[in-house]
Amino acid sequence: MTRFVRIAALALLVLLGAIWGAAWLNRNPGEGIGASLARLAGNTPPPSAGGVAMPAGVSLGGPFTLRDHTGRTVTDADYRGKLALIFFGFTFCPDVCPTELQAISQTMDLLGAQADQVQPLFITVDPERDTPAKLAEYVALFHPRITGLTGTPEQIAAAARAFRVYYAKSTPQGSSEYLMDHSAFTYLLGRDGRLRSLFRPGATPEEMAAAIRANLAT
Ligand code: NI
Repeated sequence: MTRFVRIAALALLVLLGAIWGAAWLNRNPGEGIGASLARLAGNTPPPSAGGVAMPAGVSLGGPFTLRDHTGRTVTDADYRGKLALIFFGFTFCPDVCPTELQAISQTMDLLGAQADQVQPLFITVDPERDTPAKLAEYVALFHPRITGLTGTPEQIAAAARAFRVYYAKSTPQGSSEYLMDHSAFTYLLGRDGRLRSLFRPGATPEEMAAAIRANLAT
């Protein structure tokens, strides 16, 4: 992991913490953090890149063109009309990705019939090894509704940039296989493709289901 990526990842954490803090401080009595975040975002001018303008003046999210785990070319527009739960990671991840995908899977189960209105997306940051076939096999281990997305290194870089996801190869000492360091937030997008909520790594299925329910009518 280069020093630059370390600093960039740290800056992202600080930024996301500030956004989260702003939403927390500005929430109305009884209002959830997700609703507060959406309200704050709604108060700011529409962003140019298709992402949501965050209180700090930074946009998150945006257009992408990728390939799904069946090999079909897809864009962000294909997922409008449903809420999207997006997580970036890679199939060789030893710990964080399986934990987060498990939480997303449990969130879908908690939602019951409402889960039909949610599309979970797992976007790889390791397009070299994560082919559509590899992703298909992997996401099926967690939940039948999760779609895996890959692409060219350039397409993945563009998608990651839009969501401010940082990632870098790292090879542990004594290992011949590389790992990917990556930021691990989960993004909830509304039916319009705009950011509604951000979940820190370790957010519970209950928290995510509550935020999704709060956004079903929007
Ligand atoms: Ni991971």
